[in-house]
Amino acid sequence: TQRLRVVLLGLGTVGLGVYAHLIRRPDLFEVVRMVVRDLDKPRRIEVANLDVPKSLLSTDVWDAVTQPADLVIETLGGLDPAGDVVHAALLRGRAVVTANKALIASRWWDKLSRFAASERRLKFSAAVGGGVPVLETVAALARHGGVAQVRAILNGTCNFILDALEQRIDFGTALAQAQANGFAEADPHDDLVGLDAARKLELIARAAFGDSSHFELSVRGIDGVTASQAALVREEGLTLKLVGVCERSGAHVRGVVKLHELPAGDFLAGARAEENRIEILAGNGETVRLSGKGAGRWPTALSILGDVHEYLRERRLAGRDEQAPAAVVNA
Ligand code: NDP
Ligand code: HSE
Repeated sequence: TQRLRVVLLGLGTVGLGVYAHLIRRPDLFEVVRMVVRDLDKPRRIEVANLDVPKSLLSTDVWDAVTQPADLVIETLGGLDPAGDVVHAALLRGRAVVTANKALIASRWWDKLSRFAASERRLKFSAAVGGGVPVLETVAALARHGGVAQVRAILNGTCNFILDALEQRIDFGTALAQAQANGFAEADPHDDLVGLDAARKLELIARAAFGDSSHFELSVRGIDGVTASQAALVREEGLTLKLVGVCERSGAHVRGVVKLHELPAGDFLAGARAEENRIEILAGNGETVRLSGKGAGRWPTALSILGDVHEYLRERRLAGRDEQAPAAVVNA
């Protein structure tokens, strides 16, 4: 049986969760290398009562290109070195699964898009919605009747903080809790100023309206919001949420990320802690609603595993891997 040889780039919040899943299916996956910055950091998978084998660790991101491998899973974050390495790995014929929305929403997309579209060797479901299949749903609706508008809560860290502020927990404490839970970006500034939500909104807009539309974006985050402000809004029967909205007008797609004061009956108002909620107004007038854990190790790792299994399935269908065993997500 032919196993998929995997290089894991990054072994932090998300990467370690991915590794924990991969080692449960030794019949399908052989992890050949795991790349980190610090070789001496203790890395333990508590659920499996297992330390990561040091012999598989490296600090050389180019192992993704030079080591014999079939699949690269990128959870480094950021553009540099992730952009160069992912691009080179794809050029080398590898498949890449990534959770890196900063990369996919960046100028790198011009070089990477063909690998996602026609070749189907680049997958990034985990970049939006954590474990919620946002991009898949939006793309499916776009293919069948179109999408008119998407409204969404897309950043778990901001939602977690706003939720805490309403309970009169101060901003610094709430942010520290979001970081300890593994929800925040390595630099939480991207979460707080709305950039992370904006990147996700851009990926949603591409899935909904196509790559070629001109995307106009306006972004304001949650920095500066205080517990007393949030509690005051709550006393008025409303709730503060960071909402992204995108819709098309002619050849232009407009996206706005900003704070809204939502009434209790609004579907988005009910998002608690790191939850993401997405409301899609389809072209036929119907509304499709999604919700689930939008950040954190396990939902994100599971979404990455979903992409990996989808790649395996497509590879089998294309007849490139006739002997591979049936792929089942073993959550
Ligand atoms: P972490 O900071 O927890 O992990 C990053 C990992 O990459 C670490 O293991 C780090 O090594 C390694 N790394 C970073 N830069 C380098 C480098 N130059 N060379 C070698 N190793 C490097 O981040 P997360 O796991 O939280 O996030 C990873 C990606 O997933 C990001 O793109 C993020 O946006 C995305 N994402 C995160 C989610 C979340 O809930 N956390 C949800 C959805 C997507 P070391 O351990 O030695 O420091
Ligand atoms: N920092 C992101 C968030 C991680 O808080 O939503 C999930 O993409």
